[in-house]
Amino acid sequence: MPGVRGPSEYSQEPSRDPSLKEPFNAEPPRSALVSSYVTPVHLFYKRNHGPIPIVDHIENYSVSFTGLIDNQTKLSIKDIRPLPKYNVTATLQCAGNRRTAMSKVRNVRGVGWDVSAIGNAVWGGAKLADVLELLGIPKLTSSTVLGGRHVEFVSVDRCKEENGGPYKASIPLSQATNPDADVLLAYEMNGEILNRDHGFPLRVVVPGVIGARSVKWLDSINLLAEECQGFFMQKDYKMFPPSVNWDNINWSSRRPQMDFPVQSAICSLEDVQMVKPGKVSIKGYAVSGGGRGIERVDISMDGGKSWVEASRTQKPGRDYISEHNSSDKWAWVLFEATIDVSQSTEVIAKAVDSAANVQPENVESVWNLRGVLNTSWHRVLLRLGHSNL
Ligand code: MTE
Repeated sequence: MPGVRGPSEYSQEPSRDPSLKEPFNAEPPRSALVSSYVTPVHLFYKRNHGPIPIVDHIENYSVSFTGLIDNQTKLSIKDIRPLPKYNVTATLQCAGNRRTAMSKVRNVRGVGWDVSAIGNAVWGGAKLADVLELLGIPKLTSSTVLGGRHVEFVSVDRCKEENGGPYKASIPLSQATNPDADVLLAYEMNGEILNRDHGFPLRVVVPGVIGARSVKWLDSINLLAEECQGFFMQKDYKMFPPSVNWDNINWSSRRPQMDFPVQSAICSLEDVQMVKPGKVSIKGYAVSGGGRGIERVDISMDGGKSWVEASRTQKPGRDYISEHNSSDKWAWVLFEATIDVSQSTEVIAKAVDSAANVQPENVESVWNLRGVLNTSWHRVLLRLGHSNL
């Protein structure tokens, strides 16, 4: 694609905040996540399957629309910008968030994320539903006249998993053309032009869905009869039961993961934290996929026998009400509770979403060989001792 090109090399990566852990797939320290509802761009996790593309002649950039669509065309940023602009506050979460804890049960393959492969941003851009309408596909369509039922997003970057081909993924056309699904072609993040790490000049944001479907550095959008056959849809990012191993895996037996399940994590404390006796503040995030709100976050200090409810907020000074139109339906809530600590103890957080889905108690029950979707109760161990808390 003119204007933005891959493959690139790791020597051409942008500089990143020194507080981010790991050089290329970077996550902030967990404490950084709870310092603000909207995650600052420099502290937002970055997940790139290859070196990120080089931008040379941005004025030449365009995205092609191909496949089972009458109006095969190219749109530049100048064509997309005049469409109504939406600012959607949405949490992006890698399906592998909290993988490290899963790998303690049994070995799993994948980037060793702690609890911070997640962030909440205000994404600015055009709704994909409006863009497709511009090209003759009406809102709320599940099939084009030519039989297109899936919308594939193809990038510029090159990944070894795709044998040097581009990163790609798809979503159903019914979701892409539903204005209420808020799928964006985003050119802004937190009011700034997207940066290279996060998909400049144009990325997809699919709210409520695992981050893998929010393709960055868009090259083309293709209307397909079947879902995208790329590696990351067919041979990765699927949830298998604990009994499946690398010898008996049948990738085609499972659907690509889309919505993420209800999740929470304590961020104000490390997994093993020294504290002084007395009051300790427990802060963290809770989020659910598919636009479901967070009904409750419970905290336990006795292994789950008894619980206290944490307070939840999105915007400072305003109560969060799950499913209310004052709430950001695609965004996390930050929770807080104060506990009294008189002895070493384990603190547990678990969230309940608006459909009453609850996080599973044990990581063993959701263990899977790729280490995705560890949404088990989050636990931290407090040890009495010297601390600055
Ligand atoms: N898009 C492209 N082109 N290449 C990628 O490697 N990674 C995906 C998704 N989009 C990826 C991509 C994954 S797995 C995640 S979790 C999100 O981007 C991460 O987005 P971020 O780096 O902006 O946080």
